[in-house]
Amino acid sequence: MYVNITKQDGYAIAQLNRPEVLNALNIQLMTELVDTLESLDKDSDVRCIILTGNEKAFAAGADIKEMADASAIEMLTRDQFARWDRIRRIKKPLIAAVSGFALGGGCELMMSCDMVIASETAKFGQPEINIGVMPGAGGTQRLTRAVGKVKSMEMVLTGRMISADEALRWGLINKVVPVEYYLEEAKSWAKEIASKPPVAVKLAKEAVLKSFDTTIEGGLEFERKNFYLLFASEDQKEGMKAFAEKRKPEWKGK
Ligand code: HXC
Repeated sequence: MYVNITKQDGYAIAQLNRPEVLNALNIQLMTELVDTLESLDKDSDVRCIILTGNEKAFAAGADIKEMADASAIEMLTRDQFARWDRIRRIKKPLIAAVSGFALGGGCELMMSCDMVIASETAKFGQPEINIGVMPGAGGTQRLTRAVGKVKSMEMVLTGRMISADEALRWGLINKVVPVEYYLEEAKSWAKEIASKPPVAVKLAKEAVLKSFDTTIEGGLEFERKNFYLLFASEDQKEGMKAFAEKRKPEWKGK
């Protein structure tokens, strides 16, 4: 198994487990990962998902040896990015907990998550240019939206790795903590999100992601519809009633 799963306190941890090659993302690992994320997305005990690797590597990219000899048509028919598109459709919040290398497809996988907690030792990069290719799993698009054109160009065209502090300053990640705490910090974020009303969490995530592929007008309209929709939930009635009664709300998830 290339992906280990643990569950606790309303969230799940999916840990990439191919340490001998720094969690290089081969087809088998990605198949397991995407199937796992989809099954956690349907699991009512899970309200938030942490995706992590190990201290040395989140993931050092797509498996170079697996694709080295492929022809363009083989790459096209393998259609491995169809699997990546399924990550974009995961409805529950995804938190990446990153230590060590997050390179190439590893950085792209991290950027497919909704939030990122990193250790001080984390290193981020899109080094594909050094092996004769370019990012292929969303790097040119998600990185540019996260850090802007000039910094995205810097990473994509030089292949240079950036530190956790740079990544934080550039807006690529949420928080940097000492290496002993990165997973604990991610767990505490996951626990907090798992304690929120799940239908509101789901519709809010959907609305934020909508901003990536819509006009401001279309996005505002979408947001408004999701906002109105939440007034059909019991949790909205409970949340507002609890506020007025000065007590803690009890969420039902409906
Ligand atoms: C296959 C990989 C790998 C990768 C590391 N390994 N990265 N195998 N694909 N992406 C393997 C090495 O071959 C080696 O195996 C073992 O992991 C340990 O790596 P070392 O290089 O010995 O470690 P170190 O000297 O610490 O260097 C770490 C590193 C380096 C800087 C991260 O491994 C490296 O540059 N890796 C490639 C990074 C990269 O180019 N990523 C982008 C890939 S393309 P052996 O058997 O020798 O012990 C990509 C395209 C995305 O991601 C498209 C969408 C999916």
